[in-house]
Amino acid sequence: MRQPYLGVTPRWNVIWSVIVLLFLLSSCTVNTPSTFNPQGPAAGSISALWWLLFGLAAFVYLLVMGIMLYAFFRSRQDSKRNAWFYRNGRYLILGGGVIFPTIILIIIYGFTLNTLSALNAPETADSLTIEVVGHQWWWEVNYPQQGVTTANEIHIPAGQPITLQLTSNDVIHSFWVPELHGKLDLIPGRTNSFWLQADEPGEYWGLCAELCGIQHAKMQLVVVARPPAELADWLTEQAQPAAVPDEASAQRGFEVFMQANCHECHVIRGTEADGELGPDLTHFADRRTLGAGTARNARGNLAGWIVNPHGLKPGNLMPAAANISGEDLQALLVYLETLQ
Ligand code: CUA
Repeated sequence: MRQPYLGVTPRWNVIWSVIVLLFLLSSCTVNTPSTFNPQGPAAGSISALWWLLFGLAAFVYLLVMGIMLYAFFRSRQDSKRNAWFYRNGRYLILGGGVIFPTIILIIIYGFTLNTLSALNAPETADSLTIEVVGHQWWWEVNYPQQGVTTANEIHIPAGQPITLQLTSNDVIHSFWVPELHGKLDLIPGRTNSFWLQADEPGEYWGLCAELCGIQHAKMQLVVVARPPAELADWLTEQAQPAAVPDEASAQRGFEVFMQANCHECHVIRGTEADGELGPDLTHFADRRTLGAGTARNARGNLAGWIVNPHGLKPGNLMPAAANISGEDLQALLVYLETLQ
């Protein structure tokens, strides 16, 4: 009998494999958007096609494996059956090698065409148009009809299709919100039209799906689907210029913002800050994250971001305000939090 060594026997190999697989699978469930969880009609069609392909592939795989196992284990002594295979083998090859694959490919072709036409933008999608501009490494989001500009968040009406105009300011990026639709590239000098629909109100996370430089991984966005009336209110608020601070520390914070040259790169509508390199900060405090999904938009993270943005997101284009005094930093934080 073979002696088990450190649990390495055929049976233990299976057990270890299952344990490792369970570990790997469990990591897939933590707050990551999944194409298997479609929340809109486009993602639904894509997911249905995927399951069809998977089902057909699994069926063919099991069939071929079954035939192969049969070939391994069949008795070679059965002369009657051998004679049958000898006479009919060519029909098996013709059927399994030509006719059957042709039928399968025709089925896949039909369903693929069907899915492609289901992915065409519905006619009502032009009721709201949003421009999305890719930057290294964040998303500029404009609502030209409403005069609203924000970043890394796209607010849309739940249950209604909307149009996206995608372009890039620098290199090629790719827009992907897996629970709502497939991917589409953002290409400099070109505008790609896309559409989105979320069936229910909620937050749907997305990411850049084209390698675009060192911080490609930290180029996330969130689509926030809201009841249409609530979205209208949100757009009205976002179209307003920034609130003028009435508190002394916030007023001091605005002075710091101008003196520390933050205004060279950031717009705050309603003030002299009109730089266009970085995200528009007019309603910055309303946003969920810093650095396109790098950290939650909370005071501590924001302080870290201002003093050492490269600690959180190495290589990003925001210069560090390393020499800012503690007092000025606190005032700046207070001011930025007033930008609701
Ligand atoms: Cu932008 Cu990857």
